[in-house]
Amino acid sequence: MDWGRTGLTMAEESSQYIGPIVLLGPPGAGKGTQSKRIAEYCGIPQISTGEILRENVQQRTELGRLAKDVMARGELVPDKLVCDMVAGRLQKPDCHRGFILDGFPRTEAQALWLDQFFDNSKLSKCLPIVIRIDVDYNTLTRRLTGRRTCPTCGRIYNIHSRPPQVDTLCDVDGSKLVIRDDDRDEVIFERLAAYDRQTKPVAEYYAAKGRLIAVNGDQSVDQVTSQLFRVIESRAATVADRN
Ligand code: AP5
Ligand code: MG
Repeated sequence: MDWGRTGLTMAEESSQYIGPIVLLGPPGAGKGTQSKRIAEYCGIPQISTGEILRENVQQRTELGRLAKDVMARGELVPDKLVCDMVAGRLQKPDCHRGFILDGFPRTEAQALWLDQFFDNSKLSKCLPIVIRIDVDYNTLTRRLTGRRTCPTCGRIYNIHSRPPQVDTLCDVDGSKLVIRDDDRDEVIFERLAAYDRQTKPVAEYYAAKGRLIAVNGDQSVDQVTSQLFRVIESRAATVADRN
């Protein structure tokens, strides 16, 4: 892990408080790719609602049964189910120095729920930093159709921009890479439409409160990572100064 950084990573400075981070952005913006890097660099968990839901579908849990068809159509899973799932995950002890919410909140109701959750719980010393990764529509569709994922370690590849070293196998563990069920053209279209309809207002909700930071995601993965690290480090320094 380098990404142009020097000195100790924030994970090595394991006492440093990072705080909650919300990553917004359309399907294919790079939320998962960047969350994994932030998680590794900062030593805090990535909480991807999409990944947790896919695990539930795969394990055939009750939640997975309720979410499966909705996800296959590219629509959003009902707020109550997702909020309860997130509430359970945030209670785990690995969240105490901070966490990254990847793909949550995704509706205005979820954003309101999250603010209330922070008000009512002693989970965090500060409100989340909310970062939206902006990417052009045509780039998104190309990224989604080219995405391949390792079913074992979750590493994300792209046949155009981040191909694996060997054929269609994961560089880390050699597993055969897979295409996500919802990365078919017709479902991609519906996911992008759901983003416009239901998730754009979430960014507006945070913008109206002066809490939205937009980052240009139409750059290389490393360049996007650098922008995100700058934002996160600056917030961590502010929280440290206050305490
Ligand atoms: P989810 O899994 O969250 O999917 P999504 O939001 O559609 O986003 P993606 O995971 O497709 O994209 P990403 O931004 O993570 O991009 P990635 O890093 O992979 O949700 C799936 C479904 O679950 C939803 O449709 C819904 O049904 C349900 N759901 C989830 N959360 C919910 C919620 N809160 N409420 C209700 N329902 C919910 O990158 C994409 C590709 O681009 C990769 O191949 C990557 O290698 C490549 N790439 C990334 N960055 C770059 C770059 N800078 N340059 C070139 N290539 C890049
Ligand atoms: Mg993702």
